[in-house]
Amino acid sequence: MKEAPASKYLLALPNPKNLIHALRDIGYSLETALADIIDNSITANATNININVYFDLHDSYISIVDNGIGMDEETLNKAMQLGSFDPVLSRERNDLGRFGLGLKTASFSQASKLTVVSKKNQTETGRCWDLDHVSETVKWEIEVLDEQNIRNTAGYEFLGSSGTLVLWENLYRLIDTDSKRNPEDIFWEQIDSVRRHLALTFHRYLTGEPGIKKIKIAINHMQIEPFDPFEGAGKPFPEENFYNIKMQAFLLPHHSKTTKEQYDKLRGPDDYLKSQGFYVYRNARLLVYGTWFRLLRQSEATKLARIKIDLPNSEDFNWSIDVKKSQAIPPEIIRQQLKRTIDKITSQASRVYTKRGKKISSTHLVPIWEEYHQHGNKSYKINTENPLIKLFINELDNQQKYHLKGIFELIENGLPIDTIYADMISEPENIKPIEIDEELLQKSAETYWEMLTQAGMEDEAIAKRMLQNEPFSKYVEFCENFIKHKQGIV
Ligand SMILES: Nc1ncnc2c1ncn2[C@@H]1O[C@H](COP(=O)(O)OP(=O)(O)OP(=O)(O)O)[C@@H](O)[C@H]1O
Ligand SMILES: [Mg+2]
Repeated sequence: MKEAPASKYLLALPNPKNLIHALRDIGYSLETALADIIDNSITANATNININVYFDLHDSYISIVDNGIGMDEETLNKAMQLGSFDPVLSRERNDLGRFGLGLKTASFSQASKLTVVSKKNQTETGRCWDLDHVSETVKWEIEVLDEQNIRNTAGYEFLGSSGTLVLWENLYRLIDTDSKRNPEDIFWEQIDSVRRHLALTFHRYLTGEPGIKKIKIAINHMQIEPFDPFEGAGKPFPEENFYNIKMQAFLLPHHSKTTKEQYDKLRGPDDYLKSQGFYVYRNARLLVYGTWFRLLRQSEATKLARIKIDLPNSEDFNWSIDVKKSQAIPPEIIRQQLKRTIDKITSQASRVYTKRGKKISSTHLVPIWEEYHQHGNKSYKINTENPLIKLFINELDNQQKYHLKGIFELIENGLPIDTIYADMISEPENIKPIEIDEELLQKSAETYWEMLTQAGMEDEAIAKRMLQNEPFSKYVEFCENFIKHKQGIV
């Protein structure tokens, strides 16, 4: 029997320089890159993480020092490799990692030199990736730091009995010398933004909760305070559990129902409108927020709605978690459930709007308030064509008419649209118009009837019109009795 020819293989190693340049641009921001480094510290059981930031133009650096379990030589060698773990393998329940890439990709996205010094069992090990060296030598090699180099690593003095120090140097993205603005101002602005991002991303760790050990994160020894986007959110909707995930919807309090301080606090870094939507946490670490996953448009009507989703790391694949931990996409089967929850929290508010909207625009009714369109803007005006109002106006002299017009304009201008609108969202069931006094209603009906009779209208036509005019159209039972009485039926 003839043997199959042996296959030929060629070694096709990546070109280090090209690959590294490509890796720099996979889309990290300074904020997401630092969060990826902090993930590693949390997974290593650190309780204290200090980010040391130093500005001196091209000698600037950022070092992240934790008091976690640290790494021995073998673990550090492996940790420095691109793809140090198989993403397909399952991870410990509290592991924030997945791809075996974050330490390298996050660092390379900001710095062309990455040094890691780690301390475990009284032994210190140091390794360094210098991308300039890789580019020059075209070799995937890392530097082995000697004792002296380890001690000279910026931030070394902050290492305790065990822990890890990650140092970023040659911050090619952060140091902006091309801008007209002062590079130092730009630098510190970005560090401020990092502070806000970490306060939100790790708020549940910074606060601590059952099953989550409280940690401290500081920038230049200034502690980061947690920013909880659900703090004081009031009574949540019932918790839902499905497909390994936990979900809880909240409606934040309207500004008239809370203190200004609390309202401003919950506003978040991106304001209410952009902060509405899902907040997806993976092992209590925030991945994505302020999105409805294209199931709903972000609008004013839903700006107080926030929905918390908790995922375990075993759902990484289903939710398409990315290396940067800044993406999560709900699988199709879950989208349907998410849609149902969205409908639940938005339906009441929108039902009220639709109903109201119809009344206002109906051609048959003669409302007291009417929509007014001008230059693409919409406002609300008192309808002087409403028979009762018209009747009253007709009894005034010109000067009184002029004053009344001014008063109407005042009322129209002062209409608290913001408050009504937000109340409709947060507690639509409690919003009811003030009950009209029966005596006043009776009097108004009499005047109305008389006015139309004098104008020559038949009883039947008046009755029909009455049921279409505000305020009578809202009191059908009253009107029917009144009409029967007028027609001599009772
Ligand atoms: N601060 C740290 N303390 C202890 N071990 C660390 C630390 N940082 C990294 N490591 C080790 O290095 C490994 C590689 O980290 P890296 O961030 O590259 O990948 P990962 O965390 O496994 O996955 P991901 O790519 O999703 O972040 C980690 O799995 C961990 O073993
Ligand atoms: Mg990691």
